Amino acid sequence: MPSTACGREMVFALLSKAGYDLSRVVEQEEKTAFKVSIFWDKKAEAVRFLQQIKKWRLKKARACFIKHCRTDWSSRWKKDWKPFSLTPKLFVVPLWLKDRKIPRWKEPLYLDTTNAFGTGLHETTQLTAQFIESLSGTFKTFLDVGTGSGILVVVAKKSGAGYCAAFDIDPGAVKVALKNLKANKMFCDMLKASDIKKFFPGRKFDFVAANLVTRDLTAFRKKIISFVAPGGFLAISGISLRNMRVIKKEFFGPPLQLLKVVKGREWAGYLFRREPQ
Ligand SMILES: C[S@@+](CC[C@H](N)C(=O)[O-])C[C@H]1O[C@@H](n2cnc3c(N)ncnc32)[C@H](O)[C@@H]1O
Repeated sequence: MPSTACGREMVFALLSKAGYDLSRVVEQEEKTAFKVSIFWDKKAEAVRFLQQIKKWRLKKARACFIKHCRTDWSSRWKKDWKPFSLTPKLFVVPLWLKDRKIPRWKEPLYLDTTNAFGTGLHETTQLTAQFIESLSGTFKTFLDVGTGSGILVVVAKKSGAGYCAAFDIDPGAVKVALKNLKANKMFCDMLKASDIKKFFPGRKFDFVAANLVTRDLTAFRKKIISFVAPGGFLAISGISLRNMRVIKKEFFGPPLQLLKVVKGREWAGYLFRREPQ
């Protein structure tokens, strides 16, 4: 697959246009390129999709079909994984590597399964996790919009949050989040499979995290902001560097006050504070 941020964005846009559920795409960075793996239960569907990808004739991209049985897939990923630093305080440790040594000054964040977005390897997860940790002890309630693996809820709890709520459009992700919370001996007060369109939490939160694609961030801007309590914090990510101008246009200004922008290698994250009323 192409090595540029632009190439990656293009592949994701095409996959999305072709109707593929992006939450099931697994990305791997390699030295000069990146690889996306897409999984199907039915071979016929995988073959059909491969033909479609080939029709796009993407420059510098290769696509191939590999048959895996379910056990191959889970053990293959387990083999490739190593504990790594997510934030200044937290180290992600897959549960099956629980006995591995981590730096003395770090705290482990266990992941039981990596079968949802939010392994902690993606820059957007890292940016959002760092925003949450940077405000440790300053918020009591937390909402994770599009929770994926639930990793951000674990970060929020470790940063002092009490009441936590999270939801994801993908019921599979919600099951994964539940397992990951359990692996950290935590629970989420409200954890639901729901589309943001249909999510009404009935309360506001001191900290809201939304790591979504730019299109969804802008489409649901009003709703996302409505989840934030006056004086509360909003962290957004999932924004490729070339979409930063869209975020500026849509999110800058009242009722939000910009606290921080972080530009990563390919993605950006923003931290806002909602004006106190
Ligand atoms: C980029 S992942 C973020 C996962 C995790 N919060 C993290 O930061 O690593 C976005 C998540 O949002 C979910 N999502 C996408 N559209 C959604 C929608 N309309 N309503 C709720 N969740 C959505 C996806 O299923 C996916 O798990």
